[in-house]
Amino acid sequence: MAQIKIAPSLLAADAANLGEELKKIENAGADYVHIDVMDGHFVPNLAFSPDITKMLRKCSSLVFDVHLMISEPMKYIDAFVEAGADIITFHHEAVDNPAEVIDYIHSLGVKAGVSVKPATDVEVVSSYLDKLDLLLIMTVEPGFGGQSYIEAMNEKIKKARAMIDALKKDIELEVDGGVTAENINMPADCGANVMVAGSAIFKAPDISERIAKMRAAVK
Ligand code: DX5
Ligand code: ZN
Repeated sequence: MAQIKIAPSLLAADAANLGEELKKIENAGADYVHIDVMDGHFVPNLAFSPDITKMLRKCSSLVFDVHLMISEPMKYIDAFVEAGADIITFHHEAVDNPAEVIDYIHSLGVKAGVSVKPATDVEVVSSYLDKLDLLLIMTVEPGFGGQSYIEAMNEKIKKARAMIDALKKDIELEVDGGVTAENINMPADCGANVMVAGSAIFKAPDISERIAKMRAAVK
């Protein structure tokens, strides 16, 4: 099995010390930092703006993996690119023409991802999957950290892996929600290679130890 990537979600970090939290995950060997953006409309919660992202960019050289859980992603893509996003993922359910949004993100020199909510069949992405750098399968309902991993998503992850393999393209398969050191082997065995984890990492007594434990659990 190829090496997995760990993407700690800042949603679970200490918001009063975000710069230090970023340093901690960077020193602990995280691959990406996952930044959740919520608009109180697509999801019933609010989180992270372009301004905060821009400030965080000054404190870190990690890959900024921006997850837009917002109704009108097109309106904010410029701002997140300007803020220093490396990957911008929007929701399939939020737009009428995902391919157009992917092309727009690419035109700005940034990687593009699409996410699907638990109730959305992953086959909806098949017409534009070949354009994507990353496919994100939600393993909880988007909106809040600290929920339990929905095991019924394992089949969807397997299906997504098969779709990506059939294309023979280097598209990352990310999972987000409820991933812990105890269950990370499930998405890994199903073929996911980027694991987002908020609570499991930031609420750990020792972040480095927890990330190491998560990596070890999939070997
Ligand atoms: C949920 C967010 C996730 C969340 C994951 O809507 O997209 O990124 O922060 O948090 P945990 O790992 O605590 O489920
Ligand atoms: Zn997320």
